[in-house]
Amino acid sequence: MPLPGQGLLWFGVVLGSIYASRESATQGNWTTDALNVLLIIVDDLRPSLGCYGDRLAKSPNIDQLASHSLLFYNAFAQQAVCAPSRVSFLTGRRPDTTRLYDFNSYWRVHAGNFSTIPQYFKENGYVTMSVGKVFHPGISSNHSDDSPYSWSVPPYHPSSEKYENTKTCRGPDGELHANLLCPVDVADVPEGTLPDKQSTEQAIQLLTKMKTSAEPFFLAVGYHKPHIPFRYPKRKIRQSYFASVSYMDTQVGRLLSALDDLQLATGTMVVLTSDHGWSLGEHGEWAKYSNFDVSTRVPLMFYVPGRTAPLPEAGQRLFPYVDPFAPASELLEPGQSVLDPVELVALFPTLAGLAGLHVPPLCPVPSFHVELCREGQSLLKYFRSSSVEVEPGLLGGPRESIAYSQYPRPADSPQWNSDKPSLKDIKVMGYSIRTIDYRYTVWVSFDPREFLANFSEVHAGELYFVDSDPWQDHNVYNGSQGGPSPRH
Ligand SMILES: *[C@@H]1O[C@H](CO)[C@@H](O)[C@H](O)[C@H]1NC(C)=O
Ligand SMILES: *[C@@H]1O[C@H](CO)[C@@H](O)[C@H](O)[C@H]1NC(C)=O
Repeated sequence: MPLPGQGLLWFGVVLGSIYASRESATQGNWTTDALNVLLIIVDDLRPSLGCYGDRLAKSPNIDQLASHSLLFYNAFAQQAVCAPSRVSFLTGRRPDTTRLYDFNSYWRVHAGNFSTIPQYFKENGYVTMSVGKVFHPGISSNHSDDSPYSWSVPPYHPSSEKYENTKTCRGPDGELHANLLCPVDVADVPEGTLPDKQSTEQAIQLLTKMKTSAEPFFLAVGYHKPHIPFRYPKRKIRQSYFASVSYMDTQVGRLLSALDDLQLATGTMVVLTSDHGWSLGEHGEWAKYSNFDVSTRVPLMFYVPGRTAPLPEAGQRLFPYVDPFAPASELLEPGQSVLDPVELVALFPTLAGLAGLHVPPLCPVPSFHVELCREGQSLLKYFRSSSVEVEPGLLGGPRESIAYSQYPRPADSPQWNSDKPSLKDIKVMGYSIRTIDYRYTVWVSFDPREFLANFSEVHAGELYFVDSDPWQDHNVYNGSQGGPSPRH
């Protein structure tokens, strides 16, 4: 019988003992009153944000959140495409365990009946609610956002989502065109609103309702931005991406200022992240679908009242709305930040621990039969002492942290389905590790029927050093290994 998750085992051997010893030190009792959770998941958001040092992006509301948060500067998704990434971090398991590398299976029947983060909170007395794109829609969440297991109430989807492909953009020819990225006049679009606006309104309504609830709440809000058409010239794609970031930032700003208005900011932790990054022309690539940092790196920040920031005094507002399009105001720096590479699969144990719930145990290998366990490391240790101060740019912190990502390919050379191969077409899996110093990727043979990676058949390798090559343009794998050159 083939060994499941062999790729991970291969990597895990090196660091297993380090992780095991660190993990025992991070467990223990962590007591808080039942904190509410507001989990904001932004679609396709690379850390093009002011608080991550991007001086082009206008994201004052997220920067303001970061100023009260612990920010992870080097956080990475486990696979740079929506459904596999979301199923991975929401179940706390890696793609090799969810066995979802494409969009076409539901883990509960295809891999194992794994618990999810919201399900765990629900089973621990929380009212759990989903607004917008949290789980990826479709088969990968059983066409129901994993209802009824994950959610206390039916998930909400904005009604205007269905007009995503409606012709609303006036072109130079004077005609209306479908699916072009353009500024829209909200009054001109069907229903006079946009999906992310509707999601914000729904989330604020739910917060208002929960204000008087005896039970704590777990509210996940998923923002999604329009897909960018590739026929646009490069300059405009980048411009449109930054405009979308600012638009989404206004939604986050409205949501967080409502949290203030409802006096919920003292009892609610706010976590903001994304499912993966987005390439804006780097390596000649657009969108996601790779193991490079631009595709795998995500924003990740936690505001924990009284822990990452002092509790607001009566009448004090932590999150007053800031207009991203107003004349530039002073850039807010993150409250505290951590440089160690961390993974999105860390969300499950970290959220549980921050809420004072029992942190699920580390998974055995294999773990297909275990409903509740986690493959990620808890990040609680970073919240422990008030003396955690690791400045961005200050390289040379702890060297043992590693983030794993992976990406499947149907062939060694690019072809029509290279970006999104179906499970049956996967022939090569790229396993990638990111340390504080380097990114190392090996592309090995993969058998999609047995879910078996063969590390004795290396198709290509990549090695990039962070210090000298931050954009990962100069592969030095050949020099270091004498192996074949990468063809990706
Ligand atoms: C899967 O887990 C859910 C939630 O705990 C449970 O209700 C269901 O019975 C389980 N299904 C199977 C087949 O074990
Ligand atoms: C998936 O959804 C279908 C249709 O609602 C339902 O019959 C089935 O039980 C669901 N699968 C699981 C594992 O809950």
